[in-house]
Amino acid sequence: MKNILITGGAGFIGSHVVRLFVNKYKDYNIVNLDNLTYAGNLANLRDIENSGNYTFIKGDITNGDFIQQLFTERNFDGVIHLAAESHVDRSISNPMEFIMTNIVGTVNLLNASLSSWKSNCEGKRFYHISTDEVYGSLGAEGKFIESTPYDPRSPYSASKASSDHLVRAYNHTFGLPVVISNCSNNYGPYQFPEKLIPLFIHNIRNMKPLPVYGKGENIRDWLYVEDHAQAIDLLFHKGTIGETYNIGGNNEWKNIDLIIKLCEIMDQKLNRQPGESAKLITYVKDRAGHDLRYAIDASKIKGELGWEPTVKFTEGFESTVEWYLNNENWLNAVTSGEYQNYYEKQYVSR
Ligand code: NAD
Ligand code: TYD
Repeated sequence: MKNILITGGAGFIGSHVVRLFVNKYKDYNIVNLDNLTYAGNLANLRDIENSGNYTFIKGDITNGDFIQQLFTERNFDGVIHLAAESHVDRSISNPMEFIMTNIVGTVNLLNASLSSWKSNCEGKRFYHISTDEVYGSLGAEGKFIESTPYDPRSPYSASKASSDHLVRAYNHTFGLPVVISNCSNNYGPYQFPEKLIPLFIHNIRNMKPLPVYGKGENIRDWLYVEDHAQAIDLLFHKGTIGETYNIGGNNEWKNIDLIIKLCEIMDQKLNRQPGESAKLITYVKDRAGHDLRYAIDASKIKGELGWEPTVKFTEGFESTVEWYLNNENWLNAVTSGEYQNYYEKQYVSR
């Protein structure tokens, strides 16, 4: 049996990765370490929580002593590190949590991996999950490649860039066997409704305004979350040590076009008159430092490992909308309590 640590497994992408690994690798013990912040939710993993090869541990990656002790006790063979503060808007209102979790938390995991593996790194792997946002913002042309210079522009992307640099430094300086991937925007089930797509589904369902930042002209490259999980599986097992891989959907959408498409689907699903949901579109003050465009060139992972997205956007998008509409209880549970305070603070004054 291999012992694999997945951090942040109760979050959006992490829960899809945990589910894939628990179901696919019966000879792995999967330990999901998650502090269950507002974004972590064990309801995301109900279907696999009783699997014999799965253990959940509640814990904070910013606590270095705890992390060291966990690695001593568990003897991990591999780490897939997803735990992070992940929302740009929150990083603007509270950068320090991003510094602590994304930077200090990552270093704690690097230190613990190093001390646990120092006698023999053979077959071990520290896989760090990162974002395309570290590369900065594109103009109308071009795409990010793995050697694009880092130019992070929000506290979120700066904290992720810093963690990427540290992961690389531990490889170069100490020989820690690492792999890094930088992925574009994910969409799909179990995403916390502070991010664009689930937030707007929730608001349309409840006939609430859709707060479009600026003119809605920013562009994102959207990838279905299960395609990301497949890429993570591949890179964890077959990615070259010390290398970075870009992952993307080859699927760029201007925000306002995506929102109009979403409104059309919601009109159909909710039996509304065509155009009814789009009336909720409300242009609000732009996000500070809002990056204009992200786009990924994913030819390296395709060329080396044959990965490419399998889910067509039209299908993935519609099934995502259906999932949120069919899982009202999940949506209602995560948008009660603290969420209301967040929403007031984030949107009422815009
Ligand atoms: P998320 O916010 O949905 O989940 C993050 C998880 O980390 C939560 O379960 C949370 O409880 C946990 N966590 C936060 N702080 C912690 C701490 N101190 N100790 C232990 N656990 C902690 O995030 P996500 O969207 O699933 O993103 C996962 C990873 O993928 C992140 O590293 C993010 O930077 C990266 N990423 C996300 C996207 C995207 O579109 N969502 C795209 C590219 C890369
Ligand atoms: P988001 O889902 O927060 O992801 P990211 O900022 O990491 O790309 O936002 C996606 C895009 O949607 C981004 O350009 C900001 C925009 N946006 C809005 O216009 N209104 C909103 O309420 C939110 C949350 C995002």
